[in-house]
Amino acid sequence: MTDSVPKEATLTSGYKIPTVGLGVYQNTHCAQAVTAALKHGYTHVDSARLYHNETQVGVGIKASGVDRSTLFITSKAGSNDFDDTESAVLDSIQNLKYGLEGTREPLGSSDYYDLFLLHSPHGGKEKRLKGWRGLLEAKRKGLVRSVGVSNYGPKHIEEIREAGLELPAVNQVELHPLDQQKPIVEYCKKHNILVQAYTPLLRFNFSGDKNGVIQSVADKLQVTAAQVLVRWSLQHDFVPLPKSEHEERIKVNAQVYGWEIPAEDMARLDALDKGDEGAVTWNPIHLD
Ligand SMILES: NC(=O)c1ccc[n+]([C@@H]2O[C@H](COP(=O)([O-])OP(=O)(O)OC[C@H]3O[C@@H](n4cnc5c(N)ncnc54)[C@H](OP(=O)(O)O)[C@@H]3O)[C@@H](O)[C@H]2O)c1
Repeated sequence: MTDSVPKEATLTSGYKIPTVGLGVYQNTHCAQAVTAALKHGYTHVDSARLYHNETQVGVGIKASGVDRSTLFITSKAGSNDFDDTESAVLDSIQNLKYGLEGTREPLGSSDYYDLFLLHSPHGGKEKRLKGWRGLLEAKRKGLVRSVGVSNYGPKHIEEIREAGLELPAVNQVELHPLDQQKPIVEYCKKHNILVQAYTPLLRFNFSGDKNGVIQSVADKLQVTAAQVLVRWSLQHDFVPLPKSEHEERIKVNAQVYGWEIPAEDMARLDALDKGDEGAVTWNPIHLD
């Protein structure tokens, strides 16, 4: 069967991004999870400075034997980094390099991130724009290939546009059937910004799906609830970032190509949207 969902999408930077990534937030066995994911075909890992596991991502890549240059690795700068985002990016590159090579310096042309995001819009307009300018400078110097934001509402991205700066290639937000972030998704589509879906599995708390729609679609299609959620995201052109520490779950969560959720079941899942009330995390998209 030809799949309507490609395994890679193209960012406005021109670089390709694999359409499923392994999330590593609160992953207490991060290196092992990364190694397992690469063994089972993932080529994309989503980390952050705040997760304190950039080095563990490098350790996991090294143990897998997979060439780093074939992978797509993301990290994020917290708002406390926005006064000097470029230095934060350099530190993150050193963290990853330490995991990969056991040394932090000197940095060479093979030391880079595929994607770096501003993690959240905390701190107000001036700070956000300063953080964004620093990230653009890191991109100009080749430290990162693509740049983006996370937890940004349309108004935060409008600030960037109004300042005449390059727009983000990506916006990473909480996104699943119960919180479909429609205003953000619409804005991003209009501006060719790829939307990454975090907490795509609702942290496996389905209490908001009172009628058990997610599980009933899974039962009908003879797949798991996690696969339904990842595939739902893909069929909406999002890039989901499921997290697990268990090899078998990691493997099955990404077996989401070559089959599809029929239109009538997509409609049942789409009907679960509760907007902000469906959020699992506290997401800062409405911050001033
Ligand atoms: N930008 C941001 O502000 C932000 C915020 C939150 C998350 N994120 C990113 O998005 C990633 C994913 O989000 P998330 O970690 O919040 O939540 P998630 O991926 O929705 O859910 C992870 C939870 O689901 C469990 N799980 C995974 N697969 C399972 C399966 N097949 N069966 C049963 N349980 C399963 C995991 O347990 P086990 O690990 O025990 O399997 C874990 O407790 C993060 O890791 C991070 O990379 C970004």
